[in-house]
Amino acid sequence: MMPRSKSTLQDLEIEITNVRNEFLKEICEIERESFSAPYPPHIFTVMARETPETFLVAISKQGIVGYVLASLRKDFGHVLSIAVRREFRTRGVGAKLMAEILEVLRRKGIRRVDLEVRTSNHVAQEFYSKLGFREAGLIRKYYSDGEDAVRMSKNLIQEDYVCRTQREKRKPIHRSSQAS
Ligand SMILES: CC(C)(COP(=O)(O)OP(=O)(O)OC[C@H]1O[C@@H](n2cnc3c(N)ncnc32)[C@H](O)[C@@H]1OP(=O)(O)O)[C@@H](O)C(=O)NCCC(=O)NCCS
Repeated sequence: MMPRSKSTLQDLEIEITNVRNEFLKEICEIERESFSAPYPPHIFTVMARETPETFLVAISKQGIVGYVLASLRKDFGHVLSIAVRREFRTRGVGAKLMAEILEVLRRKGIRRVDLEVRTSNHVAQEFYSKLGFREAGLIRKYYSDGEDAVRMSKNLIQEDYVCRTQREKRKPIHRSSQAS
């Protein structure tokens, strides 16, 4: 059997941008098709109004194909939700959304990002692990239907970043152009 050809992220021409009110209808559709207990639409309306800088969407020529929503708690960030339209999954859209939101949080001085994921949601756990999140505990009966959550965490200030920053702080040594 011939392998199924799959369009790449480049083919999709995805653009990541901040949420706007006109995107909310499609975001709620993605939410409904992605979760057994979706957030009600008014949550998205409020978040779009109050914290649009940490509410990002992925847009293709076919419309909105995914979104990610985060919140800030002092120095810590929290990924509240991420979802990609079913037929656009496993093409890198989710990873691109996460890369962008982590960059937004990093620029805001956030040092660590946490999230919760259902113990049964192995795809999402694999997804977050691939992006450098590590398991940080189990929260019993976290969801309204009684399912436990795995808490996952990622440090945004990595050792290599700290080293780079320290290197950049050192004064450069200029050679004299006339040195013999
Ligand atoms: C989780 C989700 C957002 C991932 O989005 P996506 O666009 O399909 O993910 P990507 O294509 O960017 O995948 C990035 C990595 O995640 C992992 N991954 C994604 N889908 C996977 C799958 N079905 N099985 C195993 N690993 C998977 C892979 O490691 C992948 O890296 P690779 O492409 O190098 O193999 C998407 O599956 C989704 O919307 N799920 C329903 C909603 C949900 O569960 N959200 C999380 C709530 S906590």
